[in-house]
Amino acid sequence: MSELNKIALKIISNGKGILAADESNGTMTKRLEAVNVASTPENRLSFRETLFSSESMKAYIGGVILYDETINQKTSFGKSIPDLISSSGALPGIKVDAGAKNLANSSEEKITEGLDGLRERLKKYYELGARFTKWRGVYIISHRYPSRIAINSNAHALARYSALVQESKMVPIVEPEVLMDGDHSANLCLKKTSEVIKKCFDELILHKVDLSGIILKPNMILSGNKSSDKISSEEVSQKTLECLKNSVPKEVPGIAFLSGGQSEIEATKNLNLINQNNNTNFIMTFSFGRALQQNALRVWSKNDKDIELTQKTFNHRAKMCSLAAQGKWSNEFENK
Ligand code: 13P
Repeated sequence: MSELNKIALKIISNGKGILAADESNGTMTKRLEAVNVASTPENRLSFRETLFSSESMKAYIGGVILYDETINQKTSFGKSIPDLISSSGALPGIKVDAGAKNLANSSEEKITEGLDGLRERLKKYYELGARFTKWRGVYIISHRYPSRIAINSNAHALARYSALVQESKMVPIVEPEVLMDGDHSANLCLKKTSEVIKKCFDELILHKVDLSGIILKPNMILSGNKSSDKISSEEVSQKTLECLKNSVPKEVPGIAFLSGGQSEIEATKNLNLINQNNNTNFIMTFSFGRALQQNALRVWSKNDKDIELTQKTFNHRAKMCSLAAQGKWSNEFENK
C-alpha cells in the first residue's frame, strides 16, 4: 500500500468524512454577511476555531480543508490551526487553486487557475502540516454547456495539479463540480457529469497520477435547482451510483461528495441512500461545506460566546453525516 493510499484511507475510512472549511475570503464574506456578521480575519478564525475544537472532530472528521488565511492562523490559545486539527486525529488539508476565472472563447464558462508557482506553494503548505489538497473545477449545464473547451481544459489543469501534489507527498482531492444551477433534468446532469469525470480520469492517467492516492470529490446527480422535474432521493442515489460506476477507475479508494447547495438533511439523506445501495468498492463519504456548517453558523452568529451551543449543533450534523457515510442514518435521529 503506498503512503498516499494510506493517507487517503485515513481521511475517509470508518465513517469519517471531510469538513470543507476552505471558503475563500470572498465566499466566506457572503456566508457571514448572510447572517449579519462582519467578515474580519478575527471573526472568520473564531467560527472556524469553534468548529475545529468540537468533540465530533475525533470520531467523524478525517480531514479539514483550509484556506490559505486559516492555515497560517493561530488559535486564541496560541496553537497553530493545523496543530489544532491534528490533535483531534484529523489531517489538515489546503485548497490550492486560485479560483475560477472566465474561460477565453467560452466566456460564460470558467477555468480554474493556480498552476504557476504551485510546486513552491505546495512545499510551504507541507511544512505547515498539510497532507492533502483541493482543486475545484467548475462546470455549468445548459443545452450547449459544458463545452469541450471547458471539459478538456479543466481536466488538464486538474491532472497537472494532481501530479504536482503527489510529487509533494500529499493526496490531491480532484473536484470537478457540475453545478446544480439551471432547469436541466437529472438525466442531463448524469450524462454531462459522466463526460466530465471520464475526461478527468483520461488526463489523470495521461499525467501518470497514482489513482490509489487521490480522492474524487464530485457532485451528486440531481435535477437543476430550477427544474420542475425533481427526482426522489432513491433516484438520486441510483443515478449517482450509475455515473460513478461507469466513469471512475477501480483503483480510486474513495469518493467524497460536495453538498453543492443542498440542505443539510437533503445531502445527508442522499448520501445515506448512496451507501445503502452502494454496489461498488468505493468508499462513499462526505466533503461538505454548507451541509456541515449551515446550522452551526446560524447559531454562532446569534451568540458567538455560546461556544457550547455552536459545537453541539456541529457535533450533531457531523454525526448525522457519518451515519450517512455508513448507510446507517435515519430521519428519526435528526430530532434526538
Ligand atoms: P459545499 O458542500 O458547500 O458545496 O462545499 C464544498 C466545497 O468544497 C465546494 O468546493
